[in-house]
Amino acid sequence: LPGAEVLVVSNREPYIHNHIEGGGINVQIPASGLVSAIEPVIRACGGTWIAHGSGSADRDTVDAADRIAVPPDAPSYALRRIWLTEEQQDGYYYGFSNEGMWPLCHIAFVRPAFRESDWRYYREVNEMFADAVVREAKTRDPIVLVQDYHFALLPRMVRKRLPKATIVTFWHIPWPNAETFGICPWKEEIIDGLLGSSILGFHTDFHCNNFFETVDRFVESRIDRERRSATLGGHETLVRPYPISIEWPPSALAGQKPVPACGAAVRSRFGLGEGVRIGVGIERFDYTKGIVDRMHAVDALLQNHPEWLGRFTFIQAAAPTRSKIASYRALQDEAVALADEINARHGTPDWRPIVLSIRHHDPAEVFELFRAADFCVVSSLHDGMNLVAKEFVAARDDERGVLVLSTFAGASRELVEGLIVNPYYAYDMADAMNRALTMPVAEQEARMRQMRALVRTRNVYRWAGQMLLDAAQLRRREAIET
Ligand code: G6P
Repeated sequence: LPGAEVLVVSNREPYIHNHIEGGGINVQIPASGLVSAIEPVIRACGGTWIAHGSGSADRDTVDAADRIAVPPDAPSYALRRIWLTEEQQDGYYYGFSNEGMWPLCHIAFVRPAFRESDWRYYREVNEMFADAVVREAKTRDPIVLVQDYHFALLPRMVRKRLPKATIVTFWHIPWPNAETFGICPWKEEIIDGLLGSSILGFHTDFHCNNFFETVDRFVESRIDRERRSATLGGHETLVRPYPISIEWPPSALAGQKPVPACGAAVRSRFGLGEGVRIGVGIERFDYTKGIVDRMHAVDALLQNHPEWLGRFTFIQAAAPTRSKIASYRALQDEAVALADEINARHGTPDWRPIVLSIRHHDPAEVFELFRAADFCVVSSLHDGMNLVAKEFVAARDDERGVLVLSTFAGASRELVEGLIVNPYYAYDMADAMNRALTMPVAEQEARMRQMRALVRTRNVYRWAGQMLLDAAQLRRREAIET
């Protein structure tokens, strides 16, 4: 894409500046699949990333145009921050995005809530970001990379003001079937907004098909299954699967100690005995991740296989997230209570079956945990892709360790050498955990090698590259047609 200007739009910013106690400012990299995927890409190609400035020191670190050059240690692109009021955050982020769209699209048995006032703020904030795109753009035909369910209306808004822009929208979460999407009172507006995009990407073909079905059901448009496109009001949007991935080699791997040293460090940090085997789970504390379900599986494992009593500990690292929302707080309380209960049932004064670490963990720590583990559990009840699964595989350059992976995560379509489980069935997951703990080294290596080869080639650069190649082709076509 020679000479083309690239703008990224997402809610979450890649670098959050916070004041720390006793003075000073630190930088945090948020736990977000979206950030970990997009950041290496824009770092490589440069441009401007527009996002909500959410840190307590964010205002103190930008210039007069609300911009800051990042990454902090080797700047290569501009982060342009948008300031949101308390009410806007409550309505647009907590309300419509995370109490409406998130449960709606994940079908995770949390009832989506749709409030008129949230919708108003959602529209308003989409306008603000669209405004920033138009203002930041130096050319009439930039490439705008719109990220996720926070900005379903923005593609149309930008299209109206920059008709020549190439708008590539990626939906990082699942798209449910038409029946389910019909619950949303503003389904027509959401679909119309998204169809302002030039290209609309989902993780899997399955989600693309769900989207076509939804468009077909609710708006007057022309769907061309062969071209895989939908045309609304004379504008055509290509709808394609782009399975997201991680950078290769992962930067968090640099500086890691050898695997045995990681094991020793983690054992001493969590007070685990020498021979204790380790399972890990790492994510945001989100009800779509099946955290409680996997604890039930640990319980079942110890019941069905008492040989692991005293010899196995499951470490669950979970970053608090969206805690303003009642269903998130309830989940955290439930998980803590369940861990206590299981620990009381099976534990001894010097051994706990479950260790919960509820805080933000930076990438280096996460990778150390991955490297210390005999197995990693990703038990999402529903997930677009899930990058934790891919990061675990990337962390294991020793080709050991086992991935226990939910069949309801998009990643299970690619990482077929993981032990694929139904997270709703504790017995099934417990059985997989036992298999993981008893798997011969040669089999671990055979499986891990296959998965690593896949993630190495289908990495995030390929994900972004494919989208940008499609965008470039579209631009060339449009140049001929006009
Ligand atoms: C998922 C979403 C992202 C979001 C991330 C973290 O990966 O698809 O859009 O950034 O979760 O959630 P948060 O609400 O903390 O940004």
